[in-house]
Amino acid sequence: MTIAATMPAVRASELTLRYGRTLALDSVAFTLREGVTGLLGPNGAGKTTLLRIIATALAPDSGQLTVLGADPRTGSGRLAVRRRLGYLPQDPGFHPGFTAFEFVDYVAILKELTDRRARHQEARRVLAAVGMERQAGKRIRALSGGMRQRVALAAALVGDPDLLILDEPTVGLDPEQRMRFREVIAELGERRTVLLSTHQTEEVMALCQRVIVLDRGTVRFEGQPGELADLAAGRVWTSGAREPGALASWRTGSGLYRHVGDPPPGADLVTPTVEDGYLLFVDPPATHGGEGA
Ligand SMILES: Nc1ncnc2c1ncn2[C@@H]1O[C@H](COP(=O)(O)OP(=O)(O)O)[C@@H](O)[C@H]1O
Ligand SMILES: [Mg+2]
Repeated sequence: MTIAATMPAVRASELTLRYGRTLALDSVAFTLREGVTGLLGPNGAGKTTLLRIIATALAPDSGQLTVLGADPRTGSGRLAVRRRLGYLPQDPGFHPGFTAFEFVDYVAILKELTDRRARHQEARRVLAAVGMERQAGKRIRALSGGMRQRVALAAALVGDPDLLILDEPTVGLDPEQRMRFREVIAELGERRTVLLSTHQTEEVMALCQRVIVLDRGTVRFEGQPGELADLAAGRVWTSGAREPGALASWRTGSGLYRHVGDPPPGADLVTPTVEDGYLLFVDPPATHGGEGA
């Protein structure tokens, strides 16, 4: 392996950002390497804010950030990052009158692919990568939500970027579309650094080699999904009734109740999942004691 391949694609420390009085990110630190990393957290955790900062669409109030060896605080650093970055925003702004091909081609122009033939070839390549070659001539407004999302991913793939930032890429997709998306993302992660945000632990289990748990602007966990699950060992049990004292307690399909929290002596402990580990780090809204807490 070359030194470049082992260098972290993103290195962040003490990243802080406020929107007025809202502290969206509070001294966030992490390192990203090759493979697929999940940025897992509930709505409002600060995921989009963090991804926008890495994508150089937003500057932090303070902290250090290196992306692909460049410093996004400088104009030349931002340009260097943008040339090697693919970004799928949470709400991609489409021109609904464009066809899928025109949209991707337009993104390629912004990415400085000036040679028309090479650019058109690249547009066809990325549309094929997401299985949209046959809909290339359709207008965006005539496409389903899942197809639009695939076109947005195709746009992020233009120029074969080294770093892919995907903000909730599978939201709104049906199970079959989600599976196809996972195939594409997993393959991309074999040679690149992919950071995708999600609020679903299922997505992390299906795709991610690493996971960063973000909650209320703070990193709660960084490691492998299996390690997140292991942290809940001894704290998940089943019984025949609800346990009001547990962090979470619910009746499962089998009729047994499953609980996460502090088990009573002699409890029937079960093997924890990624979701159980996640529940321990992120307070469920019910325990926040309402909006004013
Ligand atoms: N443009 C904005 N102006 C004011 N507050 C914002 C803005 N964008 C996000 N926020 C707030 O910052 C926090 C983090 O938001 P966001 O990064 O969108 O989280 P997530 O993507 O995890 O849902 C939330 O409390 C949200 O309401
Ligand atoms: Mg978001």
